[in-house]
Amino acid sequence: MTILITGGSGFIGSNYILHTLATSDEPIVNVDLLTYAGNIENLASVQDDPRYTFVRCDISDAAKMGQILDEFRPRAVLNFAAESHVDRSILGPEAFVHTNVVGTFRLLQSTLSYWRGLLAEDQTGFRFLHISTDEVYGTLEHNDPAFSEQTPYAPNSPYSASKASSDHLVRAYHHTYGLPTLTTNCSNNYGPRQFPEKLIPLVLHRALCGEPLPVYGDGQQIRDWLYVEDHCRAINVVLAKGIVGQVYNVGGLNEQTNLSVVKLLCCLLDEARLRADGKSYAEQITFVGDRPGHDRRYAIDARKIERELGWRPQETFETGLAKTVRWYLENPKWVERVTSGAYREWTDRQYGEQPTGAI
Ligand code: NAD
Ligand code: TYD
Repeated sequence: MTILITGGSGFIGSNYILHTLATSDEPIVNVDLLTYAGNIENLASVQDDPRYTFVRCDISDAAKMGQILDEFRPRAVLNFAAESHVDRSILGPEAFVHTNVVGTFRLLQSTLSYWRGLLAEDQTGFRFLHISTDEVYGTLEHNDPAFSEQTPYAPNSPYSASKASSDHLVRAYHHTYGLPTLTTNCSNNYGPRQFPEKLIPLVLHRALCGEPLPVYGDGQQIRDWLYVEDHCRAINVVLAKGIVGQVYNVGGLNEQTNLSVVKLLCCLLDEARLRADGKSYAEQITFVGDRPGHDRRYAIDARKIERELGWRPQETFETGLAKTVRWYLENPKWVERVTSGAYREWTDRQYGEQPTGAI
């Protein structure tokens, strides 16, 4: 029994691998292209674990993915690999189409041919779990009900449009070819090892460097924040008990405006490490121009996964943020190597330049 993870060197994937190796005996193969968002150092603590194998590969390289599937014979494929940052998708959408749309399509093709070659009982037990986002549902007004699994797709950014396309392909491979798929649509995650381009780690890093804390527009946009380990638990519950072909929304039951998140982070930093001048980090908050097409509000109705699979978040925003702030304060080297680009030097030395075909 082995599970194959794509994109396991990124934020959620690496947390998932560490969480799952700590709570089960099953071997894990991590297939990752190691783009700027993939950091091999995230998994340094398990690199010598005999249950863990890393392979550098683009999910859109169907020939190599076919070989990897044949070699490791997984009982499940979990697709975390993606371009994941909305602001980057606005500046350069093509990489999002390459990985999120073409990559997912080719991974489905490779998985389908592998699955077709399995014995009947192995085919029945096999799962393709696609990790997706609540952003595919578009944006909510203040009083709208939260996104349910029935909410029509209405993606607004190149990122969410590419993830929506991948979700549709996953659905089609189940309905057309019978591939046993599962999809999770999760809200904003936060926690250790998140690349400091996303709001929470960006604010922590910039606050400690004495730099302005950029709040887009009026800062009243709402996100539903979930601690990453709760997302990892949800994925394992869906993998173990989810009904094939179904979609499960995963959320934190925790809607916050961006401005209140930034202020809370400043308070936590004030308590943990007061600024040298004795003033609050909140002095660094700066309102900047808004993101084009900025979605106003996301909120997840997570009643299905609770009712049918018994999952609920274990962390509150207070406990999860406290853990997150502590992790970033205790791991300045990680932040320094990510922000300086030093982590890439090791990747290039170890694995050479990115494989051709990658964007
Ligand atoms: P991330 O950007 O931190 O990591 C993405 C990983 O995928 C990296 O390790 C990268 O090297 C790898 N990758 C990129 N292109 C690849 C390719 N062509 N082939 C193989 N590997 C490739 O992303 P994340 O925040 O960990 O998100 C993981 C998944 O969860 C994504 O699918 C994302 O859409 C989804 N998601 C993220 C959030 C969030 O808040 N971060 C919320 C809901 C869903
Ligand atoms: P982000 O972490 O990029 O996630 P997403 O866009 O996928 O929700 O951003 C979270 C929210 O924070 C989003 O509404 C945009 C806002 N934001 C800022 O106000 N300032 C920033 O510097 C960043 C990166 C995000």
